[in-house]
Amino acid sequence: MNDSGTFWLPEAASTVAAEVDGLFYFVYWASAIIFVGVVAAMIYFAYKYRRRDPNDRPEPVKESRLLEISWIVVPTILVLLVFTWGFQTFVTLQTAPPNAYEIQGQAYSYGWSFEYPEGAQTTDELYIPADRPVQVRLSSREGDVLHSFFLPQFRVKQDVLPNRYTSVWFEANEPGTYELFCTEYCGTGHSQMLGEVNVLPQDEFDEWMEEAGGVDEDELSLVELGEVQYERNGCQGCHSLDGSDGAGPTFQGLYESNRDFADASSTEADENYLRESIVEPDAKIVEGYRSGIMPSFAQLSEREVTALIEFIKEQD
Ligand code: CUA
Repeated sequence: MNDSGTFWLPEAASTVAAEVDGLFYFVYWASAIIFVGVVAAMIYFAYKYRRRDPNDRPEPVKESRLLEISWIVVPTILVLLVFTWGFQTFVTLQTAPPNAYEIQGQAYSYGWSFEYPEGAQTTDELYIPADRPVQVRLSSREGDVLHSFFLPQFRVKQDVLPNRYTSVWFEANEPGTYELFCTEYCGTGHSQMLGEVNVLPQDEFDEWMEEAGGVDEDELSLVELGEVQYERNGCQGCHSLDGSDGAGPTFQGLYESNRDFADASSTEADENYLRESIVEPDAKIVEGYRSGIMPSFAQLSEREVTALIEFIKEQD
């Protein structure tokens, strides 16, 4: 499709675009015709009924039933038409097909990250298959502000809020690269909060997914899954594997070591201690570290928590 868009609208690249554009142009042309009609009538009447003589006395105006009915009926029909059409389009935009490919999207100041059902993750780049409905479930990072997910070529836009899910769906009908904007002023980096949508034919998308580390997590060993979780949950930001100090204790040599806590108690770092520290990080604070820094990871599945513990045990 060699569609480079029009003066008013960018290229149309999704299945709903035609419907949205049709409605837009209907309202646009109806407004243009009414505008021209009103201005033309105004100019014509101003000329026709101009004052020709100081003694001109116009006839009293008689009502015209036909005229009055028509200026009630015609706008009513127009308004109802736009309402019905708009409502139908709204319902289409709000109702994702049940077989939609579901991607998790997260907004943060200032960027986007996406997580795919096969396990791959991308930042500021959304990869989707062509000719297949895609649903993006959106939220803003905890404690972050409101953003808005806007794909102009797909004609979809959705607010993104912290602590709440919203979703948007679309079906791209042409492989290519499209724009992703944040369209809600969210802070100084708002204008840089840009991304790209890469639409690939299904077979290329599958290839991409294989390369992008789409792994079947059920087939990973616990230690392997633990490493994936260690990176995915950002543990490496505070807990090193090489003994160096961070905001949290290193994982090197952690297992079965003796832990001295800020409240002067101590314990041996066994599986139950590690588990508690993942799920309820502030229960025991190792001497020299602060509480309230690490978020709880109680949302991890049982297997993921076990995997993390097995991974930590390997770091000796
Ligand atoms: Cu995020 Cu504007």
